[in-house]
Amino acid sequence: MTVFGPRLRNATLTAHVTASLGWFGSVAAFLALALAGWFSAEPQTVRAAYLAMDVVGWFVIVPLSIATLVTGVVQSLGTVWGLMRHYWVIAKLLITVIATALLLVHMQPVGHLAEAATRAALADGELEGMRIQLVADAAAAIVVLLTAAGLSVFKPRGLTRYGIRRRRREQSLSAQQKAAA
Ligand code: HEM
Repeated sequence: MTVFGPRLRNATLTAHVTASLGWFGSVAAFLALALAGWFSAEPQTVRAAYLAMDVVGWFVIVPLSIATLVTGVVQSLGTVWGLMRHYWVIAKLLITVIATALLLVHMQPVGHLAEAATRAALADGELEGMRIQLVADAAAAIVVLLTAAGLSVFKPRGLTRYGIRRRRREQSLSAQQKAAA
């Protein structure tokens, strides 16, 4: 049984796809800035990169990750997919919740680097562990988001136990309705 009509479903799907692929694109920009911050020999570029990462992280990436989560849950509950019926939906839910939580945790080093870069130009090798970590985080996020996008498009088969029970119940209900008509 679906809650949304076709128009509403398309409208909410547009919001979901826009938010999730916007999230992917903004993480790609984040990775480019993290690489510039790590590799550049220009103190101005390094400073600008970490300051931009702080702004892009808090004002673009975090809101888009939350928007993806909210629109994804709405899309699941409003369509035949359901939230707990298919393994691919559960996998995307877990990926999104974990990625959002890790993003919030890993915004701390970004703030730290942005603050250090504001005070003085970062010297070669200074806070190197943190700078490398940001590159690794952003690259890992790209892989994870690509996995989620692949799951969304391929929608691999596989019903959960709850999904199987729901499907049986719906089938027997429609058989009863046909018999009564
Ligand atoms: C990184 C996170 C995510 C990405 C990149 C993503 C991407 C997408 C894309 C591109 C589609 C359109 C696929 C198509 O129409 O063939 C889609 C559909 C869908 N997504 Fe997501 N999504 C994400 C997170 C979530 C979450 C957290 C949920 C819910 C738990 C979710 C539930 C759904 C559902 C149910 C559909 C099918 C909607 C329909 O057919 O009406 N997604 N997603």
